[in-house]
Amino acid sequence: MASTSSKTSQQPRNLPWVENTIQKFISEDRLPHLLFYGPPGTGKTSTILACAKQLYKDKEFNSMVLELNASDDRGIDVVRGPILSFASTRTIFKKGFKLVILDEADAMTQDAQNALRRVIEKFTENTRFCLICNYLSKIIPALQSRCTRFRFGPLVPEQMIPRLEHVIQQENIDITPDGMKAIVTLSSGDMRRSLNILQSTSMAYGKVTEDSVYTCTGHPLRSDIANILDWSLNQNFTSAYNQILQLKTLKGLALHDILTEVHMLIHRVDFPPSIRMGLLIKLADIEHRLASGTNEKIQLSSMVAAFQAVRDLVTSEAA
Ligand SMILES: Nc1ncnc2c1ncn2[C@@H]1O[C@H](COP(=O)(O)OP(=O)(O)O)[C@@H](O)[C@H]1O
Ligand SMILES: [Mg+2]
Repeated sequence: MASTSSKTSQQPRNLPWVENTIQKFISEDRLPHLLFYGPPGTGKTSTILACAKQLYKDKEFNSMVLELNASDDRGIDVVRGPILSFASTRTIFKKGFKLVILDEADAMTQDAQNALRRVIEKFTENTRFCLICNYLSKIIPALQSRCTRFRFGPLVPEQMIPRLEHVIQQENIDITPDGMKAIVTLSSGDMRRSLNILQSTSMAYGKVTEDSVYTCTGHPLRSDIANILDWSLNQNFTSAYNQILQLKTLKGLALHDILTEVHMLIHRVDFPPSIRMGLLIKLADIEHRLASGTNEKIQLSSMVAAFQAVRDLVTSEAA
């Protein structure tokens, strides 16, 4: 389940690496404080819960493990209250250590992190901490240096596909090879997202195909993008704009997704180089403006205008 590359080695195929390392720590009974970081859906929470299940028997689990996640309060009071009292009480079952899991620790305030630093130091004797976050930079350096860090990278297709296939088989899901490919592409290394797409597409459409995956996630189909490009280049502005707007509304597409796909298609259309450059720069500008929350309709008209200008250039050059 675990997927990581260490802070020193960055190999993408990294399946059992973190598991092996932590396994070794556990078997030698010298588990350090841990810091897991990386994008969502890469197995951080699952890994520490699996370790905890291995470390503790069911009946001691609740008294030995404290798990706090984003839904719990993240201020300094939590550190001085529940965390401190959990860490400072003696263990009942055995002389081994307790485990405090702080999921989504990047949501903790600076004050809370500073207070935590002292708690970690004081109770290292009988408590281990595992901090989990998406952004390492949001954890204060003093905490980082007290933990052994593990980076969880986005999963590569070779890691996602066997797992998806297992679920597909267990759940008896009807899926085409194209559907599988679409899921892997759209989830970009996030295993949770891939499972969500698989489930919702299968529930909504029965058969999981490229089209049903794209439709279910509100992602433009290849044929939609081909149409958009065709309208933009071959019709007048008003009609191209209206047709795209209609398609966008009908299918609930986001301009940002359209832009991403159109951008990839442009590389495959045979434009004269200088014209392609101009177009790419304009599209990048639109993407930048969209990212700062501008009006989609205005940006859409800007996109159509960019294509119209390109067409006029091409025809005037040909004349
Ligand atoms: N490397 C992996 N291999 C197989 N399944 C994974 C992997 N990483 C995550 N998952 C699955 O994805 C889902 C989310 O994992 P989770 O541990 O909650 O991710 P994170 O805490 O990193 O956001 C879970 O259903 C988990 O079983
Ligand atoms: Mg998590």
